[in-house]
Amino acid sequence: MSKLFVGNWKMVLSDDAAVALAEAYVPAAKDAACETAVAPSFTALERVSKAIEGSKVALAAQDVFWASAGAYTGEISAPMLAALGVKYVIVGHSERRALGETDEMVAKKAAAVSQAGLVPIVCVGETAEEKAAGRREEVVRAQVAAVLSGFPVDATNVVIAYEPRWAIGTGLACAPDEAALVHELIKSIVPVRVLYGGSVDASNIASYLALPSVDGTLVGGASTKADQAAQLLKAF
Ligand code: PGA
Repeated sequence: MSKLFVGNWKMVLSDDAAVALAEAYVPAAKDAACETAVAPSFTALERVSKAIEGSKVALAAQDVFWASAGAYTGEISAPMLAALGVKYVIVGHSERRALGETDEMVAKKAAAVSQAGLVPIVCVGETAEEKAAGRREEVVRAQVAAVLSGFPVDATNVVIAYEPRWAIGTGLACAPDEAALVHELIKSIVPVRVLYGGSVDASNIASYLALPSVDGTLVGGASTKADQAAQLLKAF
């Protein structure tokens, strides 16, 4: 299976800017030796979907709700995302966990995504405090176990992203050998694709991709700028 690059555009771009960036990804992804996906805001999904139509760029969403339909004001379901051409859905991003999302909620979301025929990208990773307390392995194990309890996981229907919370948006990328240990731990629990995320940029991406346990990257900040995104994709 080829390596996977996912750009998480968070809430940083206007819809017009997201469409322009998606258009810049199309030629960059054409020559890249990886699968490429971009995750714009919900409001831009339909326009970005059209912009990448027929290209090698796949559409991803940044979040989802677990019920498929019903009285859930403000929520978006996995079948709705599927109807827009979404292939991957990020769940359990640390910026959502920081707002109160629990392992149980993440597991329900991942199951709903899978049931809709899409692939959840489940984010796991410890906080700075948990790392300092030597609890990284325990935390990651619990986060992975929660997802496994939700539905039958296999190598094709789930991607896990190891994103240490202290490394996201901080410029403090996790040392590649340290990340590799966590990737190996996750793969020893469940043999799925594992991405690294957290302050990945053009200067350090090659050091992650060189590791056999790293199946790709989930990139925030650097993925939102066309020139940097092109550099990132060239690294595969
Ligand atoms: P970052 O974000 O690359 O800006 O650190 C990664 C992420 O949030 O997925």
